[in-house]
Amino acid sequence: MIGGQFELTNHHGKPVRNCDYRGRFLLVYFGFTHCRVVCPRALAKLSSTLDRLGRPANQIEALYITVDPARDTPEVMKAYLDAQFPRFTGLTGSTEQIEAAKRAFRVFAERKADDEDPDGYSVPHTAIAYLMGPDGSYRDHFLDGLNEEAIASRIVGHICEKSPA
Ligand code: NI
Repeated sequence: MIGGQFELTNHHGKPVRNCDYRGRFLLVYFGFTHCRVVCPRALAKLSSTLDRLGRPANQIEALYITVDPARDTPEVMKAYLDAQFPRFTGLTGSTEQIEAAKRAFRVFAERKADDEDPDGYSVPHTAIAYLMGPDGSYRDHFLDGLNEEAIASRIVGHICEKSPA
């Protein structure tokens, strides 16, 4: 079971909990702003998936939870996302808060040495996007290899279950 609980700080510096989003679908992705390949590719794909959805995307809150809270302060996340992936809101927190959020989504991420990074480390991480329902429960997950069309049609399926036309 993906529990989906978290108590974090959003990129506007406001404390947020998963239950604050009740009534909205959540599209949740974990990563870190120094990620060179995996995050930019996934955030770009998920952003264009939301574009493709059109109006139903208004029911979805897209969240990017850092696995690198030491560097990803609210300010850093806001600057990164506003510039490149404005559909996403960044969430960060203390090491303990981030570890708890990772456990709740069963995300794996661990710091390792990386010569190409300016600070000498990167944080390889699970590359799965999670869809949580308006009641906060797990609905679906999307592996990194899925394309926009496939993700969009699965999201639409879940949204239509909620509010039949
Ligand atoms: Ni990444």
